[in-house]
Amino acid sequence: MSEVVIRSGDNEVVAQVIEATTGDSGFDISSVRSTLGMVTVDRGFGNTAESASTITYINGEAGILRYRGYPIEQLAEKGDFLEIAYLLNYGELPDKGQLETFTGQITRHSLLREDMKYLFEAFPHDAHPMQILASATSAMATYYPDALDPKDVDALDISTRRLIAKLPTMIAWSYKYRAHQPYVYPRNDLDYTSNFLNMMFSVPAEDYEPSPVIARALNILLILHADHGQNCSSSAVRLVGSGQANVFSSVSAGIHALSGPLHGGANQAVLEMLEQIVADGGDVSKFVGKAKDKDDPFRLMGFGHRVYKNFDPRARIIKSVADDVLEQLGVDDPMLDVAKQLEEVALEDDYFVSRKLYPNVDFYSGIIYRAMGFPADMFTVLFALGRLPGWLAQFREMSLDPASRIFRPRQVYSGPADRDYVPVDQR
Ligand code: CMC
Repeated sequence: MSEVVIRSGDNEVVAQVIEATTGDSGFDISSVRSTLGMVTVDRGFGNTAESASTITYINGEAGILRYRGYPIEQLAEKGDFLEIAYLLNYGELPDKGQLETFTGQITRHSLLREDMKYLFEAFPHDAHPMQILASATSAMATYYPDALDPKDVDALDISTRRLIAKLPTMIAWSYKYRAHQPYVYPRNDLDYTSNFLNMMFSVPAEDYEPSPVIARALNILLILHADHGQNCSSSAVRLVGSGQANVFSSVSAGIHALSGPLHGGANQAVLEMLEQIVADGGDVSKFVGKAKDKDDPFRLMGFGHRVYKNFDPRARIIKSVADDVLEQLGVDDPMLDVAKQLEEVALEDDYFVSRKLYPNVDFYSGIIYRAMGFPADMFTVLFALGRLPGWLAQFREMSLDPASRIFRPRQVYSGPADRDYVPVDQR
């Protein structure tokens, strides 16, 4: 099949098929409006591909996720976050020399411009870290005016390194500011995750040794979040970038998109929901009942996914990491028991089974972050840190594609057809 025919009355559109290497192929509907005088409607873009992409493959029915062809299970088990960042952005795993150079460059760009401190201090102490992070990311464009051209490969390369290097510092400093603690500067003798943990949790008053168990688990969590195709935040990055806005503004838009509770904000919402269940006496079936009640706005946070309709492979890995981390750290968290009970009850309930609602990536991640010592309102910035290489890869792919166009969806206008202006004293 290389074409699809769409007919309306006597007119027809012969839409060319764009073949996928694996998974769903697409057909190009771009001439539907000019031929049939109609636009296509697809609420939430559940059936629409804006473009072809070589970055991430997802098969929601079979629970498959691959970055550049590599299964997520292998990457999570054996990979290092920075090599996965390289893979996503450059298409191939780096060789030893390439990885050393890339890692060295990231390490040497982790300092923030000193005057950026004042930016953090302009926020109220209870500001949400996602808002601070989005603002700080956006502000980076003002510090690096030399690297704003989205079509310039050198500018993209240096901005990619600066963002991956500086996001951990910005996240840690937003935390320190909120905690009324002194900022901790990056240390070049530590690896990426250990350096981040050190900037988060060390204080001048005593030595801090980043735990290898926590650093390893964080590495896995970051890899699991690193890309997920053209999801809400990546599409936001692409949409803003499609107008040729710079990469910092575009990534900042991605951070804002991620903050919503239906997207990355769900990891914080899951923990708050588990706390609510525990505080309420721990009756999980009561909350499952609330989630099923159409008159109750309550949803089981961390359940359901637009694409995964069998299981979320990331959730499977995260569940076993949660068990390992809690055991190795000797943490006995009642939230984990409640989460497991909730999963059991929901997975046997016809409401969830018939709608194919399974635990997603956010369901267990918060329990691990909590065991690591992160407060709940920092969970979504950790998702952002993980997703950053994916946003950058999506931005790069779109910006360097000569066939890219500014995103400009159509609409079916359904307001008043035509009416005359009435002066205010006659209304
Ligand atoms: N609890 C109760 N009912 C649900 C839930 C849930 N978590 N999720 C979906 N449903 C129901 C929904 O009410 C609808 O029922 P009906 O057909 O009777 O009207 C049906 O399932 C389909 O839901 P939908 O909202 O049309 O599905 P969607 O693909 O538009 O939304 C989702 C996907 C992830 C936004 C949604 O499942 C949800 O709100 N989940 C909770 C929030 C969450 O965990 N988000 C993280 C997603 S994974 C990571 C990420 O993307 O950031």
